[in-house]
Amino acid sequence: MPELREIEGLEKFLKVKPLYWDHDRREFVWLDTRLIPFKEVYRRTRDYRRVAEAIKSMEIRGAPAIGVSAAFGMALAALESTSRSAEGLLKDLGKAKEVLASTRPTAYNLFWALDRVYKAGQEASGSGDPDEVRLTVLREAMRIYVEDVKNNIEIGRIGSRLIEDGSTVLTHCNTGALATAGFGTALGVIRYAWYEGKKIRVITTETRPLLQGARLNVWELTKEGIPFKLIVDSAAGFIMSRGMVDLVIVGADRIILTGHTANKIGTYMVALAANHNGKPFYVAAPTSTIQATRSVEEIEIEERSQEEVKTVMGNRITLETVEALNPSFDITPPELISGIITEKGIARKPYEESLPKLLNLETG
Ligand code: MRU
Repeated sequence: MPELREIEGLEKFLKVKPLYWDHDRREFVWLDTRLIPFKEVYRRTRDYRRVAEAIKSMEIRGAPAIGVSAAFGMALAALESTSRSAEGLLKDLGKAKEVLASTRPTAYNLFWALDRVYKAGQEASGSGDPDEVRLTVLREAMRIYVEDVKNNIEIGRIGSRLIEDGSTVLTHCNTGALATAGFGTALGVIRYAWYEGKKIRVITTETRPLLQGARLNVWELTKEGIPFKLIVDSAAGFIMSRGMVDLVIVGADRIILTGHTANKIGTYMVALAANHNGKPFYVAAPTSTIQATRSVEEIEIEERSQEEVKTVMGNRITLETVEALNPSFDITPPELISGIITEKGIARKPYEESLPKLLNLETG
């Protein structure tokens, strides 16, 4: 696959391989993040429905990883289709797109990737050759994979300038290799600063209810040998008020052109605490996470099962009859965000101007 040649030479950045395409067996492969840090189990499939299930059950999670996986899901659907016409194959792709799109509502990368791969398939269907469509869809998925790895490393390079030697960085949720095609976004910035030799320390929140910080950040930071401490989510404000944090860097599931940013529940509270304590609060995300809209109403916040709140790692922590609310994400308003780090540069306030410029979109 020629696309893969583009990431040759980047291996030193890819100590963790969270997901990949097994070309020989024509299968999609991923690390089941639900079992980390206690077990490292790779799953594989030729069935796009299984990819959808893995996204829904959060074996695969993190906006970029969800987008890349959905793209490979479309490739599996194209290979599975027995249609002898390009038109028929496109119909099968349309069905797979619906199934994959219905997995989780908030991460914009999912819809961005599905639209891009489907559009590539549509254009190739003009040839009337179903094999041409199959190959085009697989190559487009491959490109999305390679781009995500390269963009994360570029976000790391650009963002690491914001981290001074000796700094302590607070982060919330997992935004590392386990949330992307490799390297990571916010955790990628931290990783890049460490690779540059900066003496940094990390404070990671546990990130209730599914503990992406306590499980996934701990696993990645330990693998890298980056010094860190773990806190409960509600300690972030106090820790900052005690001057133990120099800056905050988090990821994003969806950013809109006003700068409003959807990310893991708790991010908004961390942003409020950072602002109140005069600490810079940065968002790191590829431009594939940015939706070209100004309407906050278009950000759908996923409500997940109450059981996630009422249990920890499967252990019940309250009465079964209790009613719980479990919004999985929240929205941080632009005024609380010091900068948005992308592979194309850092956007600053007013985001209404800087983000369209970054995306080469018409303003106004
Ligand atoms: O529910 P999750 O684990 O998919 O939520 C993930 C996050 O909120 C991440 O911060 C975001 O997707 C960015 S990942 C690079």
